[in-house]
Amino acid sequence: MTVVRVDPAHPDEGAIRRAAEVLRAGGLVAFPTETVYGLGAHALDPAAVARIYAAKGRPGYNPVIVHVATVEQARALSGAWPAAAERLAAAFWPGPLTLVVPRAPSVPDAVTAGLPDVALRIPAHPVAHALLAAAGIPVAAPSANRSTEVSPTTAAHVERSLGGRVDLILDGGPTPVGIESTVVSVTGAVPTLLRPGTLSRDDLAAVVGEVALAGDAKREEGAALPSPGTMDRHYAPRAQLRLWHPNERDAALSDARALVAAGRAVGILARSDVSLEGARVERMPADPASYAARLYAALHDMDDAGRDVVLVERVPENDPVWAGLADRLRRAAHAG
Ligand code: TXA
Ligand code: MG
Repeated sequence: MTVVRVDPAHPDEGAIRRAAEVLRAGGLVAFPTETVYGLGAHALDPAAVARIYAAKGRPGYNPVIVHVATVEQARALSGAWPAAAERLAAAFWPGPLTLVVPRAPSVPDAVTAGLPDVALRIPAHPVAHALLAAAGIPVAAPSANRSTEVSPTTAAHVERSLGGRVDLILDGGPTPVGIESTVVSVTGAVPTLLRPGTLSRDDLAAVVGEVALAGDAKREEGAALPSPGTMDRHYAPRAQLRLWHPNERDAALSDARALVAAGRAVGILARSDVSLEGARVERMPADPASYAARLYAALHDMDDAGRDVVLVERVPENDPVWAGLADRLRRAAHAG
């Protein structure tokens, strides 16, 4: 495995060409997008896509996102291109938005896990964009971590999680957005939010009118999940996460004190000013964009520091701007 450093704003052409060659030949390349690092493979080569699943230990029923450089490429991979797709793409691509549309016959089952739809995205990160343009092929890429782990926001996170399972890592520094893209299905009459992200439901609604929530639909027992990767056991650090509400601060601190006294390695992530002897405390940013940019690195740091329980101050649950973050914290905490 090779790690190649590139300037995030102006990536070296030689490095990009080399990575593009690995992709075209069926290899695995980890690369930065504006959200998190992706583990990329030639999307139209089922053997290459199978390598993604093997490297991640990802179950075969969880489909992967296909990354492209242009809207024309996206259309070519779609069986239909609904008006809502056109509008959302025009408004938010390149950017942290994934559109689920009917798939074209050329998209292998390995990518969609056999589903009739495909998830597409044009990322905004200059490294991702240069790589996709140079490769000239659609690139399947889930987050570049072992299945169920916290997504990587630095090349070091990728290396620690996937190590020798990747052919090449493009190190473009920390990813600016910090949590995974917003996923919207436009296959039905009303666009449906499958996974919240930093683009909020309100941002989307401003462009396409009504946006439904996947959870609004009654889910029959045993029915396929609307977006399989939204399973609860995702985004989990090794440490156990416990969430506390800002107005439970005293109770949270006395819990933390008791845990420290019992010899546990305790971490605290708080948006308010907290200090506790014997605990590793990180003050988290107050605004959602900066919070998102920091969250996964903060969780990775707690794991690296050997924390076995981390008490996390909740973020606003009912504010659309915080929805992606509230979602990731809930999942990380429930994945005991
Ligand atoms: O920001 C991101 O989205 C990152 C970067 C690398 O682009 N990728 C990412 O991929 O988070 P992954 O595989 O970890 O999550 C993909 C999400 C999952 O929730 C998956 O179930 C959903 O997209 N998805 C993929 N294909 C789908 C499909 N055909 N129908 C419904 N959901 C799909
Ligand atoms: Mg993932």
